Amino acid sequence: MHKNYVIDEMISAKSIAARVEALAKDISEHFAGTDKLVVVGLLRGSFIFIADLVRELDLPVEVDFLEASSYGNSTESSREVRILKDLRGEIEGRDVLVVEDIVDTGHTLHHVLHLLEARNPARLMTCALLDKPSRRETGVKADYIGFEIPDEFVVGYGIDYAQRNRNLPYIGSVRFTS
Ligand code: PRP
Repeated sequence: MHKNYVIDEMISAKSIAARVEALAKDISEHFAGTDKLVVVGLLRGSFIFIADLVRELDLPVEVDFLEASSYGNSTESSREVRILKDLRGEIEGRDVLVVEDIVDTGHTLHHVLHLLEARNPARLMTCALLDKPSRRETGVKADYIGFEIPDEFVVGYGIDYAQRNRNLPYIGSVRFTS
């Protein structure tokens, strides 16, 4: 049963589009000249962000996806991350950009980077639309960050609450009313 809640707009669709364009420009400059970039989206939350980001990149790109799921247990800091869907392609010797919707505790990104580093990519960079540094439990920090946000429950632009609201065109903050 979902609790009653309202969603307050935190970051507008227009602000997101402007930031995505700026991030894509920086990323395109960083990887300029490469013909071996693979952009890896972490499912499911990144599906809208990656779709917008790759369309703004001024580079030849391949797109691949990886699905990780994290399980909270009694000691949150030892959260376990499982790979539910691995990449289709090999990344050895490739330039890789991992795309996340949000970095919260950082366990997901930490685990995924560890896994991908072991496959010997040429370069491994990360881009997160949202960063909640106050929640971090690992040392991980994305190379490219869209917006730093406070510790609020957010939805939209790919991010869900109980699998709903991923399709909102903006980032909203969830306020529970009961
Ligand atoms: C969310 C989000 C990130 C991760 C961030 O994914 O999309 O991948 O949690 O949290 P962390 O930094 O604390 O690890 P979730 O497991 O909810 O799956 P989803 O992307 O399919 O919604």
